[in-house]
Amino acid sequence: LDKKVRQNIHEVNSFVNYKKMAENLAIVRSRLNRPLTLAEKILYSHLDDPEGQDIERGVSYLKLRPDRVACQDATAQMAILQFMSAGMPQVANPTTVHCDHLIEAQVGGPKDLARAISINKEVYDFLASACAKYNIGFWKPGSGIIHQIILENYAFPGGLLIGTDSHTPNAGGLSMAAIGVGGADAVDVMANLPWELKAPKVIGVKLTGQMSGWTAPKDIILKVAGELTVKGGTGAIVEYHGPGVAGLSCSGAATVCNMGAEIGATTSVFDYTEQQAAYLKATKRPEVAAFADSFAHELKADKGAEYDQFLEINLTELEPHINGPFTPDLATPISKFSAAVKANNWPEELKVGLIGSCTNSSYEDMSRGASIARDALNQQVPIGLKAKSAFVVTPGSEQIRATIARDGQLSTFEEFGGVVLANACGPCIGQWDRQDVKKGEANSILSSYNRNFTGRNDGNPATHSFVTSPDLVVAMSIAGTLHFNPLTDKLKDKDGNEFLLAPPTGKGLPDRGFDPGEDTYQAPPKDRSTVQVQVSPTSDRLQVLQPFNAWDGKDATDLPILIKAKGKTTTDHISMAGPWLKYRGHLDNISNNMLIGAINEANGEANKVKNVTTGEFDAVPAVARDYKAKGIKWVVIGDWNYGEGSSREHAALEPRHLGGLAIITRSFARIHETNLKKQGMLPLTFSDPADYDKIKPEDKVDILCTELAVGKPLTMVVHPKDGKSFKIPLSHTFNEAQIEWFKNGSALNTMAKANK
Ligand code: F3S
Repeated sequence: LDKKVRQNIHEVNSFVNYKKMAENLAIVRSRLNRPLTLAEKILYSHLDDPEGQDIERGVSYLKLRPDRVACQDATAQMAILQFMSAGMPQVANPTTVHCDHLIEAQVGGPKDLARAISINKEVYDFLASACAKYNIGFWKPGSGIIHQIILENYAFPGGLLIGTDSHTPNAGGLSMAAIGVGGADAVDVMANLPWELKAPKVIGVKLTGQMSGWTAPKDIILKVAGELTVKGGTGAIVEYHGPGVAGLSCSGAATVCNMGAEIGATTSVFDYTEQQAAYLKATKRPEVAAFADSFAHELKADKGAEYDQFLEINLTELEPHINGPFTPDLATPISKFSAAVKANNWPEELKVGLIGSCTNSSYEDMSRGASIARDALNQQVPIGLKAKSAFVVTPGSEQIRATIARDGQLSTFEEFGGVVLANACGPCIGQWDRQDVKKGEANSILSSYNRNFTGRNDGNPATHSFVTSPDLVVAMSIAGTLHFNPLTDKLKDKDGNEFLLAPPTGKGLPDRGFDPGEDTYQAPPKDRSTVQVQVSPTSDRLQVLQPFNAWDGKDATDLPILIKAKGKTTTDHISMAGPWLKYRGHLDNISNNMLIGAINEANGEANKVKNVTTGEFDAVPAVARDYKAKGIKWVVIGDWNYGEGSSREHAALEPRHLGGLAIITRSFARIHETNLKKQGMLPLTFSDPADYDKIKPEDKVDILCTELAVGKPLTMVVHPKDGKSFKIPLSHTFNEAQIEWFKNGSALNTMAKANK
């Protein structure tokens, strides 16, 4: 294991470190003295402190050292802006940025791409220049979707990757533990801090038998989602093993892992197989394949390893499934689907069929889809039987696009009536300028994507979005109706004779190798010292972050309560998404959404609070800005589990930016609590949760910051509007290092100080 094997062909200094992993595993094994699952092996071999780390599944918090970081262009903006303020000359761990989320599908690939490049120019220029400056690999718009590029270039068996996108687990198809995180976590790893994860539980899925005919890898996860539901994987890694695994292509396994995000799983992984080795070789990484072969005994679970939950799927019996509408766990086998359409009154006409996206755009997916389209075209020569529904293809990467252009699948799809979009997320993330139905008009679409929540694809809440394999999308697009079952229902050929479509066929890897297509990668330059990061001072989408002020060393007195929030206050209430996402790289602009969804206890309304200095009611961000302008710090009072939901770092950055000092709640969602600490805020909890009720929205408070010490409560003095002042003890979870974050103004300030 002593060999120096490069992780990929792009980076000369990133190596696969099986030696270190084996050493760490030996330490952990001697401590735990029990067989380990594959997920455990990957995680524990990346522990920062294998000797001292507490390890209990579902209980301990692991401090880990990931091998890589990946960011998509929407989330990369704030992550890189934050990294910049750490004052480091380059990222400490290999990192890549992928431009895939900002390209809107309108008319087709090249035109859509050109339009996106012009609309998003300042964002792309910023990312390209920042990547060049800080030694980050930059994948330009048009290169493809982050998860496909990771699989093709960077994923390796046994590795640990974090990515700022929920479908990062896609790389589990190459036996990598790849986990979706918020930007703040990515910044930590870029800056060489260990990354924290609650030790996941492990769900074992044993695959037996072999799939055939119309059943595709996608059906495994569609079935699992139906069994476990959208919450069933929370806090767990799903581990696929058993004799059925060997028959699955690497990209097929990636599809299963990708959509594991829909059951809330931390990530999903497959045992290492020969098919993975073949994929590594086909994607220019034969040395990684050979190295993984020598480590193969650690790339599967130990004999007798125990799972927290166990499922078995017989692939021979697995039926094709269609999941939806509106939720990915409503799983219906194809044999029962037509009846379900009738019973539920789902719109039966299939308006649009969409294949591709990060979930299902492999060479195998495209080849199988094209084989069905070709079969249909051949039945009705010379015009051919074409798609009745509108049909849309999203290649996952430039390499896939170029290869299927060379090998003919792309022209088959075009002949079939398809529109080929840019190599990007497009309709999968709602970047779809859909014109064929009006907003509010009920209609059905069928895609090979992963997510189908209300409005996700086209912003129309009445669109019934179903997810399935690309095979069923193509077949059902021919019939144009949700009632069509290609396994049993016949179509008519040119002479009016009935025929059954032949089951799809297609190779996992191209016989002639992959065609890389256009070069869409920007490597960091050798001399990075002269590179200037491009941010226009007048931009409304990007803003360089100014370091937050250090603590003044004093207790804070007479602070107004900006809002006493009642009930659920999620990160979406604190920093709303939707149209605000445009400003995610501009802290001051996006701060205009701060807490606008939180409910004010005083009046039961959202975004309407009293400015105690003027007596007027105004929007929450406006009042915060007024206090800030007057030099008045403020606090927020919150209810239970404050900050639950997505881990978005803006929910912590915004209150800090607008002059908040402390968020005082009955309890916090843990990630948000840590995010607040990182930004130099004080997340505090009522030692007695009942004290929440003693505070009135117009009270003033003193926070005795000078008392802040590990494991000790600190005092809040409450000055009611009318009546006598009283004290309330507040608890916190700061450790020594985190107290330094508060004192220095933020975790990044602390890092910048250390770097000086
Ligand atoms: Fe997400 Fe893009 Fe895939 S939106 S689901 S990464 S196609």
